[in-house]
Amino acid sequence: MRARSKRQRTGRGVALQAEQADRHALYQRSVQDPEAEVAQLDDLFRRLRGRSPLSLREDFCGTALLATQWCRSDPRRTAIGVDLCRDTLEWGRLHNVEPAGKEIASRIHLVQDNVLDVRTDPVDLVCGFNFSYNGLLDRASLRRWFENAASSLTEEGLLVLDCYGGSEAFDTVEEERDIEGEFTFVWEQASFNPIDHRAECHIHFRFPDGSALERAFSYRWRIWTLPEIRDLLAEAGFSSIHVFWEQFEEGEEEDEYLVSTGRYEEVAEAENQESWICYVAAAR
Ligand SMILES: C[S@@+](CC[C@H](N)C(=O)[O-])C[C@H]1O[C@@H](n2cnc3c(N)ncnc32)[C@H](O)[C@@H]1O
Repeated sequence: MRARSKRQRTGRGVALQAEQADRHALYQRSVQDPEAEVAQLDDLFRRLRGRSPLSLREDFCGTALLATQWCRSDPRRTAIGVDLCRDTLEWGRLHNVEPAGKEIASRIHLVQDNVLDVRTDPVDLVCGFNFSYNGLLDRASLRRWFENAASSLTEEGLLVLDCYGGSEAFDTVEEERDIEGEFTFVWEQASFNPIDHRAECHIHFRFPDGSALERAFSYRWRIWTLPEIRDLLAEAGFSSIHVFWEQFEEGEEEDEYLVSTGRYEEVAEAENQESWICYVAAAR
């Protein structure tokens, strides 16, 4: 991944925006909303268990932004963050965990390990967000993650993951989003093979000065479908599986598309949309 510019530099010594950028910081601002994710986890657990969850294991934690917010949200809360990548965990320790202060940091435990093998004390919640499990490319691996999660939960514990689908999920796509006028986040699903659902995905960041971090992050994914996920959860020992579907409402402007309310409701049937996101909560 190299900073590139379509324009000439404006003068000697003037750094391009892409050269000054930190891809982890850009990623966090583009695709993570830890306050909303903590509220979502709390809400799902309360609805199914009638109490607030206290211990979280964030699998595929990356920079542990969610684990840090989890512990910030309640002084009784603890978090374990699990990720394979030492550098990403170290970035998270320096930029998220330590800046949260000693007391909060003391309740966060970062583990460099494979989520398929890691062994941890039982927790109320294991979660894996931003569709990271799509990096597990075969049934045996996804099932093994589910089995690992199942064996890492307290009696009332839940595994929570997010899932995306709809016809657009099974196609090539390039979507752009402006982030506070400072840069453009680009999600590219560059290829999709209908035979094995393998997809090549990239994240690019583009800046107003014409510079860009192309392929700041790249993923070789298998786009798992919701029925496959539900079947594998059941095979892995989860006896109750709940799907919470994003709720939409009419926009304020005439002709505006439906807008997300940010609420998710448990459903057994949903409209077949071009693009959708849901949360799956599974209990043993
Ligand atoms: C898409 S990022 C997700 C970061 C963050 N959790 C989020 O919600 O945006 C996926 C992360 O999963 C990690 N990862 C991929 N396979 C893994 C595995 N088998 N075990 C642990 N971590 C893994 C990668 O190192 C990467 O940091």
